[in-house]
Formats: sequence, C-alpha cells, structure tokens
Amino acid sequence: MDDHLGAGSLARLLRGWREGAGPAVSAQAALAGRIATLLSDGRLAVGTRVPSERELAVALGVGRGTVAAAYQELREDGYLVRRRGSGTWTASPATPPAGSGPPNGAPLDGTLHVGPTGYSPFAPMGAPQTQDGGRAVIDLAHAAPWAPMEAMSEAAARALAELPTHLTSTGYDVLGLPALREAVAARLTAQGLRTSADEVMITAGAQHAHSLVTRTLVRPGDRVLIEQPTYPGAIDLCRHASARAVPVAMVEDPASGRPGWDLDALSAAMRAATPTLGYLVVDHQNPTGAVMSPETRAAVVAAAGRHGVALVVDDCLREMWLDTPVPPPLGAWAGAGGTPVITTGGLSKTVWGGLRIGWLRAPRTLLRRIAAARASDDISTPVLEQLVAVGLVERLDELVEASRQTLAHRRDHLRGALARALPEWRVPNPSGGFSLWVDLGVPRSSALVEAAARFGVHLAAGPRFATGGAFEQYLRLPYTLSPDALDDAVARLAEAWDSLGVDTPTLTTVV
Ligand SMILES: Cc1ncc(COP(=O)(O)O)c(C=O)c1O
Repeated sequence: MDDHLGAGSLARLLRGWREGAGPAVSAQAALAGRIATLLSDGRLAVGTRVPSERELAVALGVGRGTVAAAYQELREDGYLVRRRGSGTWTASPATPPAGSGPPNGAPLDGTLHVGPTGYSPFAPMGAPQTQDGGRAVIDLAHAAPWAPMEAMSEAAARALAELPTHLTSTGYDVLGLPALREAVAARLTAQGLRTSADEVMITAGAQHAHSLVTRTLVRPGDRVLIEQPTYPGAIDLCRHASARAVPVAMVEDPASGRPGWDLDALSAAMRAATPTLGYLVVDHQNPTGAVMSPETRAAVVAAAGRHGVALVVDDCLREMWLDTPVPPPLGAWAGAGGTPVITTGGLSKTVWGGLRIGWLRAPRTLLRRIAAARASDDISTPVLEQLVAVGLVERLDELVEASRQTLAHRRDHLRGALARALPEWRVPNPSGGFSLWVDLGVPRSSALVEAAARFGVHLAAGPRFATGGAFEQYLRLPYTLSPDALDDAVARLAEAWDSLGVDTPTLTTVV
C-alpha cells in the first residue's frame, strides 16, 4: 500500500487552514493546528509519510520557514516523527500534548464525559484541559450514552454469580453464548425481523461486526457503497480494506425539510459502480438522524437484489427513537435466497459503549463464512460480558424508555440554547439518535473545531463524516450531556464562533 501523501493531497485536506484560524494566530500555529486536527479526527491517517517542507510550502503558497516551524511544533507534540533516510511520518502522540493534562475542575455533573486523563482522541493539538481557572473540558466529539449505573451493577452481579456454571467449558464460542443469541434473536423478531438464534453472532460491538463482514466479503479494490455523510467508522473500514468508497449523498425531502435517501441515486450507484457491499444506517442515520420510510426500504432491497449488492444495515441506533417508533428493520424486506442483508446492532447505544457487546444477523451460510474469518482474529467474545448483556437485554425496554425521555428533553434543550445563542445556524429536529447535524451557513467547521478546543470543547468536524473533505459547512452536536453541560458548551461555542469573526449572512424571511 502506498502510504506517501502527496503535497497536493495534503494541501486539499488543508483547504481553508489559514483563514480558519483567524488573524490572531500565527501561520505556523494555524498550519500545525489544522494538521493536528486532521490527525486527531482521522482524516489524516497515522503512519503516513508527509510531503517534504519544500513540497508542502509550494503547494500551499507559503514560505518554507512556515512549514518547517509547523512541522517542528508537530514533532514536539508527537504528531510527527522523523525517520532517518525516509522522511517525516505522522504519529499518534503517546501522551496528551502540552496543555491537555487532567482536568483541574470537577466535572459539571456525573454525565459529563471526561476521560481518565481528560484527553479525547479527537482533541486537536494543544487543546487546553482547563480554562479560566479550571473549567472542565466538554467532550462533544462522541455521541454516546451514559451508563445506567444501577442496571449495570445488578447485571454484573448476576453475571458473576452465574459465571461458575460456565467455567467447566473452554469458554470459546465464536458465535457467542446461546442464551444471549436467543435473547437477541427474540428482540429482532419482536421488531419485525424474524430471526432464530443460529443466524446470530455476538461480537465486540457493532463496529467489530462491520469489520468482520468487510473482511469476509470485501477484497482490495472492491467498491463499498456508503451514505454521504455517514458514520466515520464506515469510511475507515473502507480504507483499511483498501476498498473504494462509493458515497451517495443524503438529500433533503422538500416537503418535510428532513434528510432522506435519494433512491434513484442509490440505484444508479449500485448499477454503475457495482459495489460488493452497501453500508446503510436507516434508523437515525449518523449524523443526519434520518429515518428511511418503509417504501424506500422495500425499494432499496429490490435494487440491491437487481444489482447483486450485499447490504449491511447498521441498526445500532434504531431503538433510540424519541418521537415516533421506527418501521421494522430493513432486513424484514429481504426474501429468502435474495441478496444477503446483514443486520448489525449492539448495546453501545442503548446501554453503554464500554460493555463492547454487539451482534450481527446474517443468513446461515454467510454466518459460517464470517465465523471462519473470525476464528483467526479475536476468536470469541468474553463470557462474563455476554452474561452481563443477557441481564441487560432482558431489561432493555425499561432502560431504553428511560433514556428516551431524558434524551428528548436534552435534544429540545440544546436546540433552544442554540437558537438563542447562535440563531444564524440551521438546527434540525431529528426524531431520534443522539445528535444534531447543524448547518453553520458557511464552510468553517474545521476552523470552529480548532477554535472550540481553545475554549475547552472537543468536537468532530463535518468532513470527518464524509469522503473527499465534504461537509465543511456542517457540525455534529451530540445532545447526550446534561442541560447544564449543554448550556456551558453552547456558551463556549458561541465564544469560539465569535473568535472566528465569521461574517454571517443576514437571514431574510420571504413571505
Ligand atoms: C452508526 C454507528 N455504528 C456503529 C457504531 C459503533 O458501535 P459499537 O460501539 O457497538 O462498536 C457507532 C458508534 O458511534 C455508530 O454511531
């Protein structure tokens, strides 16, 4: 694989780096900051050889000294390393960069996500951990729920009590514990997708399921259809599999103003690009929050069948509807013997990501191939975690219902706070999921992410959710934090936005 990044390619990724930082920031700091952001949010891969200082200076139209100083800064922070005789390479800082140590201030409340060191993998370089005498860093880079403490503790205690009965076996089962597979199959069946336990594999999270499917079905050079924008993990998987992503743009339904799928574009991409696999998030699409209608589900399955495209339907957010229940899973429209539809899911979005329990449902023959591919990988899922998951799946209705009410309130709260503080932003009203896909009105998402880091807010920029640097005008804002934390985040975001000096177009109402 060619891991050398040309100067032109890096310059394209860096588009807007100078203007984004504002006049108060030196050119070298602005350049270093943008490269660190690209690395932190995954748009620039670790282990890539970057262009020489001279090549990049020419591509950016700046003096070589500026690039040299920026590279030097990045080396000091651990984002770049020089290898003798083979140039300069991107790296992952072993320790948080200067200024991002543990928080001095206490978290705003129990739900504020601050990692053990307060360091977020998305934190751009030099992101200060405390501001103004000890403000905690607010992590809006991750859209994930808080753990239900009591339910987790109870399920863990029960699992521990049950563990001895499993200790007489080897504990290896590539498909997972029968009790959990049955519980998952029952839940999928109740949702309208008839499933038996022998069609289910338990995995270490939904993303692990996607990785296993990709490894089984996708060969280097194959094409994989994805939505644009989409969950960044899908883009990363394509890259890791050396597959070519075929992005199909999400569109706005003119009647409802809500995002949706362009069926003609999906069918055309399936016909013209002949992808091996299509990855779709049809319930509370990440990041737009879109929900696919039953008619479109039927048509997508039919188109995939016509063009021989296997589908992976990532249903890990489907249970998180806030206003109206979603239609049955897309897999329910797949007929026996037709194109394979693989449904993935897990407990990361309904209960807690730290549990690392996910699953996939696939036709039995395909499941056997996936199991064979897994046998040389992680082999099987930890038994204790699966036992905990059995207890949680039994209580899932109750747990999800409680989260729904809290999340609906927080969604409305964040929308209200944004409408007051940043009225020029276009803020949607998704019917589920965890985040708002906000239209900033101007392509300044990466610049805002960098500025927000200086105010102690960590975010993922719009282009992280797309191929080719698209969606600079959009920002994903999760509403999973407490109302107090969201208020604080919005106040800081408004400050960060102000610091960019964006000339906002005046909103006019046409009557
Ligand atoms: C759409 C989507 N799929 C998959 C995942 C990863 O899920 P898991 O934690 O179960 O691997 C996420 C997490 O953010 C997600 O948003």
